[in-house]
Amino acid sequence: MNNNRDYSFTLKQVEGLLSDEENIISNLANISAVLKNDHNFFWVGFYLVEGNELVLGPFQGPVACTRITRGRGVCGKAWERGESILVPDVHNFPDHIACSEISKSEIVLPVFRKDGSVMAVLDIDSDRPDDFNSNDMENLEKVVLIIQEKHGR
Ligand code: SME
Repeated sequence: MNNNRDYSFTLKQVEGLLSDEENIISNLANISAVLKNDHNFFWVGFYLVEGNELVLGPFQGPVACTRITRGRGVCGKAWERGESILVPDVHNFPDHIACSEISKSEIVLPVFRKDGSVMAVLDIDSDRPDDFNSNDMENLEKVVLIIQEKHGR
């Protein structure tokens, strides 16, 4: 089910939080909390690039897989391709990694360093199929841009 979530307050909070704090883990933790609280997503979190793997970083929601190899799952593919991926139905995405049976749709956005390499991915899961649209993508890309401005060196 598509909708148009209002991200104006979300973006204000993310900007405010990052202007006050330098620690990336604290900032990613609070951004996860803001996204989860504002929009009641099933799972919101970051995976951080470490060598050839993504490692679970700050998140809000149920326990999740801790390590994802580059190119595997939606997260590993978003990292490998260097582009955002919107998955309306996780059961139709080859190689989707099911951390939870409850997750039905998913959106993953890479977070880039200034040199163009990927430092992390933002992963959001919904318990409803087809729950993300271009409005989510555009606004979540704004969230990612704010992170990159602050931490993408
Ligand atoms: N579904 C993701 C794995 C991470 S969990 O959804 C939190 C994937 O396929 O990469």
